[in-house]
Amino acid sequence: MNVFESYESNVRSYSRSYPVVFHKAKNAMLYTDDGKPYIDFLMGAGALNYGHNNDYIKSRLLTYMEEDYIMQGLDMFTVAKSEFITAFNDHLLKPLGLPYKFQFCGPTGTNAVEAALKLARNYTGRSNIISFMGGYHGLSQGSLAITSNEYHRKAAGIGLHNVTFIPYESNKPNDTDSLAYLSMILEDTHSGIEKPAAVILETVQAEGGVNVASPQWLRALKTICEQHDILFICDDIQIGCGRSGDFFSFQRAEITPDIVVLSKSLSGYGLPMAMLLIRPDLDIWQPGEHNGTFRGYQLAFAGGKAALEFRRSTDLDIAVKRKSAYIRSFLGKLAAIDERIHIRGLGMMWGIDFSAFEDKLLAKKIAKKCFEDQLIIECVGREDRVLKLLPALTIEEEVLDEALDVIRKSVVQCVSTTGKVVSHQA
Ligand SMILES: Cc1ncc(COP(=O)(O)O)c(C=O)c1O
Repeated sequence: MNVFESYESNVRSYSRSYPVVFHKAKNAMLYTDDGKPYIDFLMGAGALNYGHNNDYIKSRLLTYMEEDYIMQGLDMFTVAKSEFITAFNDHLLKPLGLPYKFQFCGPTGTNAVEAALKLARNYTGRSNIISFMGGYHGLSQGSLAITSNEYHRKAAGIGLHNVTFIPYESNKPNDTDSLAYLSMILEDTHSGIEKPAAVILETVQAEGGVNVASPQWLRALKTICEQHDILFICDDIQIGCGRSGDFFSFQRAEITPDIVVLSKSLSGYGLPMAMLLIRPDLDIWQPGEHNGTFRGYQLAFAGGKAALEFRRSTDLDIAVKRKSAYIRSFLGKLAAIDERIHIRGLGMMWGIDFSAFEDKLLAKKIAKKCFEDQLIIECVGREDRVLKLLPALTIEEEVLDEALDVIRKSVVQCVSTTGKVVSHQA
């Protein structure tokens, strides 16, 4: 037994799928303690959009530390925070005409989700939240209540209330029209469902199986929220920060959420950081009402500013759109191998859905085979039946090719040894 198996809690998860010891990392690559290279298609679950140890961001962070600039500042005024806010405004919010205020939260995604829920409830005086089946928003108590996965919910140990789940958008003809259903429960005084404070969603459900909401659906949902005076919260923790091909995933729908939740790649370097962007009139917080020691991780502010500079100087959105088209075309050919393979995705988050196969473990077997061939990739969605591709946005084209080739070979090998068609989805 190694030190982890001997001493680390049983709760550890990723290390079970990738049971090697990692030591070094550069851009799209991870290296084990004995130097074996792996291509990383997990990228810190979305926390490393700009690659491992991005040279530009690293140089800014090293300078920051060498100069003894402040490292821990609670929520006091600091130069690092002021520069981050200014850069974020100048690079993103002003050009998009977005008037948000910034709320810095405890440093992980779930901290920011908790803050968003608390603010929405206090602002509206309502407690119910509409969340979507397949949605993942974190595992602390409030976020867990709006996360749909039964496995995680069962661990809460208490009732998880004040939430109503409705189906996400589906393009299958016989599935529930979730927006018609939402309108119905909001309008019917006998629906028995309390009027919610907010609707919260990912515009692409990542952990839920890479389910992509269409721009029309997102716009229609936003309109319903406006008609009923319900806040629209966009959880952009995983699909945000450039992953969709724009910085914010909702840009493609041309909507303005009331609250945007960001974390993961926000600091640019995998350093913990989370924040809310809030419509200014929603900012009814009293001083210190939502506090937290690590809301002021100054190095993350410096990294976040450097990441915005890096995006701009490298035209990252253009590169993402180009690589996205390349991955889409590869996956189109992959899906032609077997009609049971379905692909979904956007930007540089793609899913290969194997749920039409009888073998429930097929996606997991493929991921395992990929790992044997030195590609780190995870399974998501119901029963983990979707292979999720989450490369670095900065991945070199030859490395991307190499990884896609590993996926193709693993899929061909595993699919050729599996059973018959059980359903055929459009
Ligand atoms: C969309 C989304 N929201 C919230 C979270 C929770 O973030 P964290 O794990 O940093 O608490 C995640 C994490 O995967 C996520 O993907």
